[in-house]
Amino acid sequence: MGPNNFHSSMPNNSSNKYENNDSIRVSVLSEALPYIQKFAGRRIVIKYGGSAMSNKNLKEAVFRDIALLSSVGAHPVVVHGGGPEINQWLKKLEIDSEFRDGLRVTNSETMDVVAMVLTGRVNKQIVNGINNVGASSVGICGIDGRLLEARPWGNGSHGLVGEVAKVNSEVIEPLIAKGYIPVISSVASSDKGVTYNINADTAAGEIAAAIGAEKLILLTDTLGILRDQNDPLTLLQHVRLPEVRELIDQGVVNGGMTPKTECCIRALAQGVTAAHIIDGRIPHALLLEVFTDKGIGTMITGRG
Ligand SMILES: Nc1ncnc2c1ncn2[C@@H]1O[C@H](COP(=O)(O)OP(=O)(O)OP(=O)(O)O)[C@@H](O)[C@H]1O
Ligand SMILES: [Mg+2]
Repeated sequence: MGPNNFHSSMPNNSSNKYENNDSIRVSVLSEALPYIQKFAGRRIVIKYGGSAMSNKNLKEAVFRDIALLSSVGAHPVVVHGGGPEINQWLKKLEIDSEFRDGLRVTNSETMDVVAMVLTGRVNKQIVNGINNVGASSVGICGIDGRLLEARPWGNGSHGLVGEVAKVNSEVIEPLIAKGYIPVISSVASSDKGVTYNINADTAAGEIAAAIGAEKLILLTDTLGILRDQNDPLTLLQHVRLPEVRELIDQGVVNGGMTPKTECCIRALAQGVTAAHIIDGRIPHALLLEVFTDKGIGTMITGRG
């Protein structure tokens, strides 16, 4: 806005579209003020799902939202998936993989690809993307500084799929304190030095609980939890903890949505105030969720 436009945001009856745009922008900013104040200094864990990484413009919008959250004083921490990209590389290398309980059954050949794609390619693309829009991020995986200690999931029923045995968040605390945005891929090691593939939703939930996050936001490729996956009008906007269990038991929640809802349950039980499952295909979904009155997607809270 140039200095001569200073008085332009007065009435709505202006015929100049630029002046109108300015006044919209100013009122949007003003609506965001209480939220900016609420989240200043608070941690927000964002699980950036592989399914929400499909297109370049959307990716850039996500990076800008994360950078904006950081510049207004919130502390975003990003945990990412990368399912579609892992699938592409497995296909190129002619390695079959199977999903069970929403988790990728992982043998050592698959594990190598998962580790390479997540920690090498996807992680660095996100770090680069966030840095390019003016914030500073640092990419690590669960092995670095023993951030995530793994153990086999379900007694090894899914091969090298791991669950989180422990979170050692000391490694990211200095980064957060200095204003860096940690970008975490959920590859982790056990106390025996075996590398495990941990579902990124699960990792995000445990990290959110360990660092005392205010919010856990899961960005994915669906509107939120739908009662009928073929009908967007069946979006559940607010679900309380006891109802989440029922949705899992009834099979309404299945596939990739299962680890999401389970990690929300665990994060809320460990003190995170609210968890949100939102549609990463909507431009600026993150800002809509954090900075507007209505929010989008599905919000999961405790009993209240
Ligand atoms: N009740 C439900 N409502 C909405 N989606 C559901 C439901 N039950 C299962 N799903 C499935 O869950 C999928 C989202 O999980 P998915 O694991 O595919 O994505 P992601 O976690 O964002 O990506 P990644 O695993 O790569 O990080 C949806 O695309 C949908 O197919
Ligand atoms: Mg998933």
